[in-house]
Amino acid sequence: MEDLSIAVVGATGAVGQEFINIIETRYPKANNLRLLASERSAGKTISVNGKELKVETTTESSFDGIDIAFISVSSEISQKFAPIAVSAGAVVIDDGSAFRMESTVPLVVPEVNGSDVDWHQGIISIPNCSTTPLVMVAHPLRQLSPLIRIVADTYQSVSGAGASAMTELTKQTKSLLASEAFESESLPSQIGFNVFPHIDSFLDTGYTREEQKMIDESRKILHSDNLPVSATCVRVPVYISHCVAAHIEFEHPVSVSDAREALSSMPGVTVMDNPQTLSYPTPAHAAGKDDVLVGRIRQDASNSNGLVLWIVSDNLRKGAALNSIQIAEELVNRDRLN
Ligand SMILES: NC(=O)c1ccc[n+]([C@@H]2O[C@H](COP(=O)([O-])OP(=O)(O)OC[C@H]3O[C@@H](n4cnc5c(N)ncnc54)[C@H](OP(=O)(O)O)[C@@H]3O)[C@@H](O)[C@H]2O)c1
Repeated sequence: MEDLSIAVVGATGAVGQEFINIIETRYPKANNLRLLASERSAGKTISVNGKELKVETTTESSFDGIDIAFISVSSEISQKFAPIAVSAGAVVIDDGSAFRMESTVPLVVPEVNGSDVDWHQGIISIPNCSTTPLVMVAHPLRQLSPLIRIVADTYQSVSGAGASAMTELTKQTKSLLASEAFESESLPSQIGFNVFPHIDSFLDTGYTREEQKMIDESRKILHSDNLPVSATCVRVPVYISHCVAAHIEFEHPVSVSDAREALSSMPGVTVMDNPQTLSYPTPAHAAGKDDVLVGRIRQDASNSNGLVLWIVSDNLRKGAALNSIQIAEELVNRDRLN
């Protein structure tokens, strides 16, 4: 990885910044990075592995000589630049939703379906930041018994909506504490001292696009096209880490102890589950960590073949930047960069 030429499109964003943090700890010698963003950020400097790198405006020639382009921008901008990067010879790892459901684009969580990188045609997508932790937990459990149905309700932090939504939470909280007027700009509703069940736009079905992403993307990653999945996605006033309350039904009963054992053996998952010591994961535990945390594992009182679990994960790390870097590592290990 350290020998590769890497472009980071969206280097100034919430995911881009976390990407750079992870590169610094995982690859402290990497210095062949091109930091790209909009023209608003051109000329800003960002320190990477002790070197001050200038942010450049993303243009059609930004990808010349690049091996891997990590793209963390809006779908519209991805749609413009990803094909250009591929034409220039780069493999694109895209964090947004632009290409996720295209049949020629693998949608990958390496611990679950890493071998899907083998059939890439230039672009690989990462899933939505709540889908990733859900499949990280569903995958080891389905080794115990086939999945019949998943119902997932999320509690998603504001960083899932980008850097500007984090600023909005701070501003609104200060305004509310000072009894001052405020407006919601980045988010669709009041986030200070509030929660709302609205992430991305509404569909005719009554679901939101974010909820539909969890349904479609879980099926694609698990290679289970007809798996019944339902979701309700809620924004909460937390800066970093998304939580998922997951109700998973199996073909046969799965005991809590077997589930704990399977989850403990899953790379990238940490079980934090001891009601006696009040041990359960929260966003504060997960922020800045690589692993998906899982606790509150219990038999579903409404379904003898069901388990209920509480899953928490840093949406900027495993939900985005870390998963992208792990996909690149998978490509290198499988010799599938070209
Ligand atoms: N946040 C998460 O938890 C998360 C998780 C998984 C996937 N994702 C996906 O990752 C992507 C980025 O999310 P984010 O949270 O990092 O958003 P963000 O904080 O709003 O950052 C957006 C980035 O896009 C750049 N940008 C805007 N217009 C551009 C242009 N014309 N050309 C090049 N760059 C441009 C911005 O640069 P400037 O600073 O110059 O404006 C900034 O670096 C989105 O598709 C999102 O769905 C996010």
